[in-house]
Amino acid sequence: MTTDPTKEIAQLEAEATAALEGATDLAALEECERVAFRSKRSRFSEMHQNLGSIAPEKRRVLGRLLNELRARLESVADGRRVELVAAGRAERLAADRLDLTEVLPGRLAGHLHLVTQVREALEDVFVGMGYEIAEGPEVETGWRNFEALNIPEDHPARSPLDTFYVDFGEPWSVLLRPHTSPVQIRLLQRGVLPIYAVVPGRTYRKDTPDSTHLPVFHQIEGLVVDRGVTFADLKGTIDTFVRAIFGEGTRTRLRPGYFPFTEPSAEFEMSCVICGGEGCRTCAGVGWIELGGCGMVHPAVFEATGVDPEQWTGFAFGFGIDRLAIMRHEIADLRVMTENDVRFLGQF
Ligand code: PHE
Repeated sequence: MTTDPTKEIAQLEAEATAALEGATDLAALEECERVAFRSKRSRFSEMHQNLGSIAPEKRRVLGRLLNELRARLESVADGRRVELVAAGRAERLAADRLDLTEVLPGRLAGHLHLVTQVREALEDVFVGMGYEIAEGPEVETGWRNFEALNIPEDHPARSPLDTFYVDFGEPWSVLLRPHTSPVQIRLLQRGVLPIYAVVPGRTYRKDTPDSTHLPVFHQIEGLVVDRGVTFADLKGTIDTFVRAIFGEGTRTRLRPGYFPFTEPSAEFEMSCVICGGEGCRTCAGVGWIELGGCGMVHPAVFEATGVDPEQWTGFAFGFGIDRLAIMRHEIADLRVMTENDVRFLGQF
C-alpha cells in the first residue's frame, strides 16, 4: 500500500456506500457489491491481499479495520436489497391491480344469479309475513334427514342410489341433504316456540341432469308451529306467496299426497302461468303446475324433537327454487341455471 491505508479505507467506504445505495435494481446492486468487495479483483480484496506485505502489528490493526469495513458494506447492501425487493413487489402489485369497483355508466358490471334473485324475492315475501329466515348445513345426519322425519328404514329415498352419502362416522350415517326438511328438525330441537321460519338452501340428489332435474338444486322449506295452526292457514299461506311471486291472478290448489313427516299431506299446484288454466303444452293440458309438497307436521316429528303435540300444531311445505324460477320466467330447461352462459344470465 502506497498511500495511507486508513485514508484509502475511508475513501473506499464512501465510494462503495454511495454506489450500493444508488443501485436501481437487484442486478445493479449485485454488480456494485462485486466491484466494491466481493470479487477477487475488487479494491477491497486487493487491500486485503496486501496485508501480507506489511509489518505484523500494523497488519493486525488494518486487518480489523478491513473486516469492519466489509461488515458495514454488507449491511448497506442488505438494506438496499430489502428496499429494492419491496419496491419491486409494490410495482408488481400495482401492475396486477384489477379495478373491480368500476361501473361504467349504462353498463352493469355484474348481478346476482337468477336463482339468488328468486330466493331473495321469496325471502322478502315471507319476511313480510313475519317469518324468520333460517339455515342449516348441507352435510346432515341421517337421523335428522330420515329417522326424526318419520321416514322408515325401507323408504326408497334412503337408498344410496338416490342420496349421496358422506364417508364419515358410522356407514350411511352422514349425507348431503336431499331436501331442506332436516332443518325442520333443527328448528324444533332449538325448542323456541312458536316458529315461523323459511329455510332456503342447496340440496343434492343422484339425478341425471335433464330439463326438469339437477343433481344440485335449491329448495325452500317453510315451518310454522304455534297453538291452533290449521290446514286452512297452510292453504292461505301457499296462496299468498304464490300470488306474490306469480301475480294476483294466479290460483293454487292442493291435491292429496304423501310425506312421512306430514299428516295429512298434499301436493300444491298453481294455475299454469302460460295458459292461465286453459291447458297447454307447458301444463300438459291440465291447466295446473305442481310446485311442491306440504302438510300438517306429523306428531312423530314433534315426538322426536320433544315438542308436545297436545299443545302445538304446525304445518310445513317445501319446493324447488330453481323450478319455481324457470316457471316464473318461462324457461324451458333447468340446465341453463348451471351453464353460466352470459347470454342467458344477462337477461335477468
Ligand atoms: N321435503 C319434501 C320434498 O323434498 C317437501 C315437503 C316439505 C313436503 C315439507 C312436506 C312438507 O319433496
